[in-house]
Amino acid sequence: MKFFIDTANLDQIKEANELGILDGVTTNPSLMAKEGIKGQEAIMNHYKTICELVDGDISAEVISTDFDGIVEEGKKLADIHPNIVVKVPMIKDGIKAIKWFSDNGIRTNCTLVFSAGQAILAAKAGATYLSPFIGRIDDSNWDGVDLIAQISHIYSIQGFKTEILAASIRNALHIVKCAEAGADVCTCPLDSILGLLKHPLTDIGLAKFLEDAKKTQ
Ligand code: G3P
Repeated sequence: MKFFIDTANLDQIKEANELGILDGVTTNPSLMAKEGIKGQEAIMNHYKTICELVDGDISAEVISTDFDGIVEEGKKLADIHPNIVVKVPMIKDGIKAIKWFSDNGIRTNCTLVFSAGQAILAAKAGATYLSPFIGRIDDSNWDGVDLIAQISHIYSIQGFKTEILAASIRNALHIVKCAEAGADVCTCPLDSILGLLKHPLTDIGLAKFLEDAKKTQ
């Protein structure tokens, strides 16, 4: 399973990248706004900086919602760097645009996915990645990980090549459960990635080893 970090924060991207386990970055307009990135030029420059920091797929989201606008915006984003993946919302014109991008060699990440039916449509259109929002599904009293398992089963028996990119990850357990359920990628906040390190027995065991090591010095 690939690991992406889900942020536009450069310090967090650097910290995750330094672990040596980072395969890419996802962003969205909310994450860009959180970092105070404002204006088209600043947004494009920020994506360029992220591409220079991380050698992996970088999702950059369109804000147009009509076919022509999505295609025009997506082409500009894709021109920033070969690693850019154009993130397109799961709407009717989004599906049409994903098909256009797929036919024209531009990779896509279909975002805001909440059902298996949407996952089938995106795969048919040729999406490179599919982003089901696990945490937001859990928030609405459904099981986000169950959706990952269902899509994984469908893609496997139907031979769809679209990669399942589990998004809206809220904790380390989500990552483990998505890995079990067949996600190809997890995009996670830094805290959730670092949460994978934690186990109290590791801390207790290390303290004991270090204490005993003093006897050997
Ligand atoms: O990649 C989509 C993700 O950022 C959404 O996460 O926590 O806003 O539901 P969240």
